[in-house]
Amino acid sequence: MEVLVGDCLEIMKSMEDDSVDLVVCSPPYEDARTYGIGFNLKGQDWVDWAVERYMECVRVCKGLVCWVVEGKTRKFRWSATPVLMMADLHRAGVKLRKPPVYKRNGISGSGGPDWLRNDYEFVICSSKGKLPWSDNTAKGKPCKYGPGGKPSSRNRIGNRVRSDYEPPKLANPGNVISCSVGGGRMGSRLAHENEAPFAEKLADFFVCSFCPPGGVVLDPFCGSGTTLAVAAKTGRNGIGIDVRDSQVDLTHRRLAENAVVQDR
Ligand SMILES: C[S@@+](CC[C@H](N)C(=O)[O-])C[C@H]1O[C@@H](n2cnc3c(N)ncnc32)[C@H](O)[C@@H]1O
Repeated sequence: MEVLVGDCLEIMKSMEDDSVDLVVCSPPYEDARTYGIGFNLKGQDWVDWAVERYMECVRVCKGLVCWVVEGKTRKFRWSATPVLMMADLHRAGVKLRKPPVYKRNGISGSGGPDWLRNDYEFVICSSKGKLPWSDNTAKGKPCKYGPGGKPSSRNRIGNRVRSDYEPPKLANPGNVISCSVGGGRMGSRLAHENEAPFAEKLADFFVCSFCPPGGVVLDPFCGSGTTLAVAAKTGRNGIGIDVRDSQVDLTHRRLAENAVVQDR
């Protein structure tokens, strides 16, 4: 595992094209939190900042790039920055995949006086084409109903023909990734030393589904080291970057905690 301190844009510039297998991260969400570095970009300024860094992730990654993102709601108006970002990436030629949803079970909040509680965040995903490695049922469950024999369809003259379709052993988990969040449910207590960690279960979903065993996962905004902890637990290698020394130290502590647990 490698953990580096600095602006991820500058550090990624020193990395080779296609040198990692997967990117999983969540950047600061506009000016929701300053992260002790005075981070306060919002609206299109935030989108431009994020797109520049996302494009660098695309360059260094041979597989899937996943950014968990959210905008802000002020005075009954959502900033829409996740969709503005997707529109700019699309126009820049990035091959977006339909964004999966990070569904957070157990979040606090009521939705305000007239609106709905914010249960999900977009995961902006892209690839350079067909993924070089994917195990899209890694997090699938056994199929609810038996296969019921080979499916058939009618050919042009109306006769029934059986297809060679082999039903999967596990059902595809779909694109809503449901995770319990909040105290005690993020995978480690150390996660809460970052202002906005995501759940280990979310990182685990993408790592197991889209990074080959022994491959390299990059998290350019590694915070408390959630992605790297998952990489270590699942037999992958990780590169983490954070602009703050405190978070690089935290990631090292998280990895050490992992090593202790695995030694037992
Ligand atoms: C939402 S947090 C990431 C949390 C992380 N996913 C976790 O589970 O702990 C965003 C992180 O990005 C870092 N950050 C902000 N600007 C950065 C930059 N330009 N380069 C690298 N890291 C940055 C912040 O210090 C913060 O720790």
